[in-house]
Amino acid sequence: MPSPLADHWALDPGAIFLNHGSFGACPRVVLEAQAEYRARMERQPVQFLWRDLPDLLDAARAELARFVGANPDNLVFVANATAGVNAVARSLHLKAGDELLTTDHDYNACRNVLAEAATRAGAKVVVARVPFPLTDEQQIMDAILGAVTKRTRLAMIDHITSPTALVFPIRKIVRLLAERGVEVLVDGAHAPGNVPLDIETISPAYYTGNLHKWVCAPKGAAFLWARPDRQEAIRPPIISHGENTRREGRSAFQDRFDWPGTLDPTAWLSVPAAIRFGAALFPGGWEELRDHNRATASAGRALIAGHLNVPLPAPNSLLASMATLPLPEPLQTLPLTNQRLDPVHLLLLDQHGIEVPIVHWGKPVRRWVRISAQAYNTTAHYRALADALTKTDWVKAHR
Ligand SMILES: Cc1ncc(COP(=O)(O)O)c(C=O)c1O
Repeated sequence: MPSPLADHWALDPGAIFLNHGSFGACPRVVLEAQAEYRARMERQPVQFLWRDLPDLLDAARAELARFVGANPDNLVFVANATAGVNAVARSLHLKAGDELLTTDHDYNACRNVLAEAATRAGAKVVVARVPFPLTDEQQIMDAILGAVTKRTRLAMIDHITSPTALVFPIRKIVRLLAERGVEVLVDGAHAPGNVPLDIETISPAYYTGNLHKWVCAPKGAAFLWARPDRQEAIRPPIISHGENTRREGRSAFQDRFDWPGTLDPTAWLSVPAAIRFGAALFPGGWEELRDHNRATASAGRALIAGHLNVPLPAPNSLLASMATLPLPEPLQTLPLTNQRLDPVHLLLLDQHGIEVPIVHWGKPVRRWVRISAQAYNTTAHYRALADALTKTDWVKAHR
């Protein structure tokens, strides 16, 4: 059942892992590259962290910059997308009455960051309701633009949404919001490695993205990009030496972020190894890997929808390597308690060995399943999920 490509990963071969989207999975060669950096760090910590790190970080940043279409001067590493959103939202000088715009497809942790920044200033978070199921991208644009007011200071827009796995038309959204004087923080947690990226061309005010998800870098690798005119105002979540210590050849933005206190920087330094891994997996490089994953997700989605006799909630044109599907009625009747401990999720794991997120989303809240497709997945994995979701005797037993 596993793909021959699965050998590249350290995943448990006995499990059906359909959740690359949550935390990624790091290939063996990338873990080995990280282990080498760790060994070097522990051989001479001061040499590594104090004298070698700045240049190593610049080299990793330069490779990442090429991969995401960014000028390296506008790019810093952060531990995760949550940190990127924190840096931006908490650096805004909001006034009472200001509005921060987001959508109801956003990520809870990031919504919390907006809410905290808004509350401190007497500002508020406005949530645009994007329909789901939906049939075309115009519905996304209409919902977002319809929620803009004269008080909108910033819109946080996901490039790929977490609960619903939609690829938002981010370039158009940034352009249309800019025409209305609204700056955008793109939450691109799922985008790098999943869709082609050219951040300078999208040209939002800010873009944050994870590398531990679809670039398959080690956990703790992410970035924040900021347009030059916005960099001076941004403070990292952790203020450190860079606040008053400038280095030659680096921007003040980079000085502030590059040293967030003593930490293990090896996840950041291993990003080039992850980029090279993805480039070498198929003859057509990253483009072929992305196409392969998108085709696998799309086929998996069609197979499951057919088995469950549920409608497809979005066109293929709005999807990449993940897809969200509604669960059929028998599975909606179980109590909706904690999403992390959802009974369908736990039963799929315990009884079928399938790791897949069960999403609680919508008004009224419904239960959905979000599949991911990475090169280690095969059609058999989606068939196993479809079979498990179809034979719902185990649900009756649970009720
Ligand atoms: C859209 C979105 N934003 C932000 C995050 C947060 O990522 P992290 O936990 O790496 O900060 C996630 C995580 O899944 C996400 O899906």
